[in-house]
Amino acid sequence: MKRDGFSSRFGILAAAAGSAIGLGNIWRFPYITGENGGAAFILVYLVCIFLIGIPVMLSELVIGRNAQSNAISSFDKIKPNSPWKFTGVLGVLTAFIILSFYSTIAGWVFAYIGRAVTGQLSSISPAELPQYFGNIINAGGSNLEPILWQFVVMVITGFIVIAGIKKGVEKYSKLLMPILLGLLVVLAIRSLTLEGAYKGVEFLFKPDFSSLSVEGVLEALGHAFFSLSLGMCTILTYGSYVNKKERLPSLALQITFADTAIALLAGIVIFPAVFAYGLSPDSGPDLIFITLPTVFYSMPFGSFFQMLFLVLIGIASITSTISLLEVPVSYFTEEFKLSRKKVTILITSIIFLLGIPSTLSFGSLGDVTIFGKTFFDLMDFTASNILLPVGGLLISLFIGWGWGIRNAVKEATNDGNIEFKLASAYGFATKYLAPIGIFVILLYSTGVI
Ligand code: PHE
Repeated sequence: MKRDGFSSRFGILAAAAGSAIGLGNIWRFPYITGENGGAAFILVYLVCIFLIGIPVMLSELVIGRNAQSNAISSFDKIKPNSPWKFTGVLGVLTAFIILSFYSTIAGWVFAYIGRAVTGQLSSISPAELPQYFGNIINAGGSNLEPILWQFVVMVITGFIVIAGIKKGVEKYSKLLMPILLGLLVVLAIRSLTLEGAYKGVEFLFKPDFSSLSVEGVLEALGHAFFSLSLGMCTILTYGSYVNKKERLPSLALQITFADTAIALLAGIVIFPAVFAYGLSPDSGPDLIFITLPTVFYSMPFGSFFQMLFLVLIGIASITSTISLLEVPVSYFTEEFKLSRKKVTILITSIIFLLGIPSTLSFGSLGDVTIFGKTFFDLMDFTASNILLPVGGLLISLFIGWGWGIRNAVKEATNDGNIEFKLASAYGFATKYLAPIGIFVILLYSTGVI
């Protein structure tokens, strides 16, 4: 059977950018920026993106397209029977973990969509919002609603993944990503013109390094991986559906640029509003759910825009959840010659079950902590700050020392047919900069050295 694949350059870009752009940009980036003091954190984040993110992105694309296979077998095809395939195993495992807690938050977005459509959300005043939102996510006891929404998210994701690459992933991403961008720009303008917005701009762009901790540096690195969908073979898997004529280096740059631009735009939407309304920037995972409705509340046609925006965030999160699910689905389908449908249903169910404790940790399991973290925080921390960077480290080592820069550059230049001016910078970053950088940050911030 011929492998499914993308049908156009824009389709690939939309799907890969669709994977990268999601709750990471609109929910996670603002809230961890808020918790880590603002501009200084963003600066470290941008350095991580530039020096580590872009090279790892290209490496994943190169491995996937060269091997034309899934997360685990790709390593096996390039270096048969070597331990490198452990990188893929780690990726598949990480996909289970990330999707399990990601669907909690995506569920909250869908819960809000439900309320926006019925007009309930726009009648809540900014002062009532924290309580209102708190009631929605307080899962457990008699409130099973958040779990229900999480289920809805998993079902939608499963359906699209069953439909496959061209008819599922590509079709939806192409349409929706451009609308999201347009709406963010409108919102950013509204937020910037609120009275008192200036303090938010300062928070975002005027670095104060005294507010940055060592853990903050690890957060920035972890978030660079999380936001770009790197370190768990998602981009590798999408790369395996890319044809041999595409230009991978420019693709890597475009995905990274789009993702970073959207995150910064989301910051420009959120923080001026946070300061204008006297909210606290470090309120945690509920930040956007409180601030966004506040911005809309103060806008003409606010309830309409609010609904549109929530729907777009919902969609942006789905283009990410499908890329997360595609990693294990493509592996188990190809490796065990099972039907895509059966595998998808099975894996979706497992991930849904695994995600329930994360959702409950905002309610009835709120007091249960492991290593001082709630179940949700533990999942997020382990996957984003440890597993993804370790995955990125292994991918860089594989290219730099296992397979060789020369082979990678050959693939990246379509066998020498296109120019790749930054090939030696890519080689240097992949062989030395990324592995050493990740290694040092991991050891230092976890207290090992
Ligand atoms: N990058 C996605 C986001 O920002 C999340 C994601 C992480 C997707 C890892 C795939 C792999 O929302």
